[in-house]
Amino acid sequence: MTDESYPNKAALYEALATIGDALAGGLRRSTVPAGLFEEAPEREPESLEQRSAEPHDAASTEGRAPARAPFAASDSLESDRSEEIDTATALSALEAEVKTCTRCVLSSGRHKAVFGQGVIEPLVLVIGEGPGAEEDKQGLPFVGASGQLLDKMLASIGLYRDQNCYIANIVKCRPPNNREPSPDERATCMPYLRRQITLLKPRFILCAGRTAAQAMLGTAEGINKLRATIRDFDGIPLVPTYHPSALLRDESLKRPAWEDLKRLRSLIEAERGLND
Ligand code: URA
Repeated sequence: MTDESYPNKAALYEALATIGDALAGGLRRSTVPAGLFEEAPEREPESLEQRSAEPHDAASTEGRAPARAPFAASDSLESDRSEEIDTATALSALEAEVKTCTRCVLSSGRHKAVFGQGVIEPLVLVIGEGPGAEEDKQGLPFVGASGQLLDKMLASIGLYRDQNCYIANIVKCRPPNNREPSPDERATCMPYLRRQITLLKPRFILCAGRTAAQAMLGTAEGINKLRATIRDFDGIPLVPTYHPSALLRDESLKRPAWEDLKRLRSLIEAERGLND
């Protein structure tokens, strides 16, 4: 889905980002990176809205405490809760399918498929390319060196995988020697991610790196062109930026990546302002 199919959406998102910047105090709040992403800022109580605290990464819905206290259970609270349980159950079923998937050659080399990690109904769904060695070992996304940097990047705008984000990848199994997943492998795995998106209902998508952005947008545009723009995926604003591993290789990319993160933050602030 390219933004060409929604010629006005990208402009609308840009306008919203500008409004969000104004709402958030714009430059006044844009001073985080003295040593860009070196240290994650302290978690602030007023960090960007926590849409859901219901984690989903361990496949199990059994014995889970209700996300909301069950006092004064109104009909709508009860139906929200049962919807959440349905979503968690559907995600767990999908995760079980992914773990036994043999649809492409990547399955033969994996130790663990990496389904995803984070909360249901996340404010932001972060999408990477595919698991690396550490992720393949642990079965969790972005837990190696680039994952540590990703966590700092997210924290710089008040996002946390255990509070208001979900992290997933285009392909769920590690490509050998960390090679780029082939177009066939991406296409074969894509239905899993699409189903995750339908179930998770993210408000925004952050694509980490060229492969993720290209696969999500069905474009061959390079990351230097894709970043610094706001795109659209099925009605969800999508912000492409550099992959954290690119930032580890080339420090000069940290500044533009920070600009992209601020753009995402502005969109979030705009939405929050519109809902206040
Ligand atoms: N790189 C990715 O794109 N995804 C991961 O999960 C880890 C590293």
